[in-house]
Amino acid sequence: MPAPTDPRTGLPVVAMVGGGQLARMTHQAAIALGQSLRVLATDPAESAALVAADVRLGDHRDLDALRAVADGATVLTFDHEHVPSEHLRTLTVEGVRVAPGPDALLHAQDKLVLRHALDAAGEPQPAWAEVHTVHEATVFAEEVGWPVVVKAPRGGYDGRGVFVVSGPDQVAELLERHRVLLVEERVPLVRELAVLVARSPFGQVAVWPVVETVQRDGINTEVLAPAPDLDEETALAAQELAVRVADRVGVVGVMAVELFGTADGVLVNELAMRPHNSGHWTIEGARTSQFEQHLRAVLDYPLGSTAMTAPAVVTANVLGGAASAEDWAGPGVDERVHHLMAHWPDVKLHWYGKGQRPGRKLGHVTALGEDLAEVRARAVAAARYLADGEVDPAFAFPEEH
Ligand SMILES: Nc1ncnc2c1ncn2[C@@H]1O[C@H](COP(=O)(O)OP(=O)(O)O)[C@@H](O)[C@H]1O
Ligand SMILES: [Mg+2]
Repeated sequence: MPAPTDPRTGLPVVAMVGGGQLARMTHQAAIALGQSLRVLATDPAESAALVAADVRLGDHRDLDALRAVADGATVLTFDHEHVPSEHLRTLTVEGVRVAPGPDALLHAQDKLVLRHALDAAGEPQPAWAEVHTVHEATVFAEEVGWPVVVKAPRGGYDGRGVFVVSGPDQVAELLERHRVLLVEERVPLVRELAVLVARSPFGQVAVWPVVETVQRDGINTEVLAPAPDLDEETALAAQELAVRVADRVGVVGVMAVELFGTADGVLVNELAMRPHNSGHWTIEGARTSQFEQHLRAVLDYPLGSTAMTAPAVVTANVLGGAASAEDWAGPGVDERVHHLMAHWPDVKLHWYGKGQRPGRKLGHVTALGEDLAEVRARAVAAARYLADGEVDPAFAFPEEH
């Protein structure tokens, strides 16, 4: 049976589970391909639900809600990893094309599944153990040295579910909440890197340049493309690693490989199988954005060029700051946007349409140029101004606008 298309246009209909900013930006890319993203959101006020025309409300853990959003769609894909595998297996049996498929997705849903798979493939990763008892954790920790990093295998994001643990008591507490834990050596990180790769069912792969991801309190704040001072050999090795992992797990769509950069090379941290925060720079900074590429990949279209459009591209996230608090007396959000546009006419703004709350990812800005340090300073100052209303002295505004 041919895959369903939109009867008005003859073009595909991609259904995405999740209505956050990733779906919102995927919808934006879908428009240029003559499509309109269908979205399963839990709330009409979610980022993508505010802009997409075909929004279904429902829970991603509800099989009937998944069936309804997939009905008549060409393919079902995701803006997060929280859909239960058993539902995806059922949908697959019922004839729904699911991309990435449930077996691939499991490697992004369950950190233990990934650790086992990477060991089997001989890929570099931190020393780790699957732990059911305090004794098992202690044996491992004494081998690699305390403190260790303890992780809930499932359900974490933005550092929730990740704990630096310096003794058995803390392990005991965590084991009360989780039946099984992943325990890892604490890697001596030089920095964190990421490689974004896309893979189609046909088996075509496309990979973007390796980026550096800067984190604050477990949340990504800046992405530097390409990763500064990364030697060509390591960069190529990291890209090849990402492509091997993509093939091995059989992902369809965009996949981010989060890497730890150490003095001796890279180790795989975790995978995300969807457009990823580390790839927002591709909207302006690459010939094909991660959002367009994700659509191309899940639809088995040929993939687009990943070449950069400038030598240096930096994205800085706008996290809700003082300026999101109720007692804020400085310039309002619209005034800050106005100032930003006046002061940095070349900086591109992406605002997710979310309610303002301190710490929340409200949007991002992207700057492009020749020199990474200069581009980075500009992007960071712009994002800070939007978030905090704080003016970086290096970018002091003139008295009059
Ligand atoms: N084994 C480790 N050694 C050192 N730092 C780690 C380790 N594991 C995680 N981290 C730090 O914690 C952050 C979040 O961990 P991660 O496994 O990526 O969880 P999440 O699912 O919340 O993104 C990482 O980006 C890194 O900064
Ligand atoms: Mg992570």
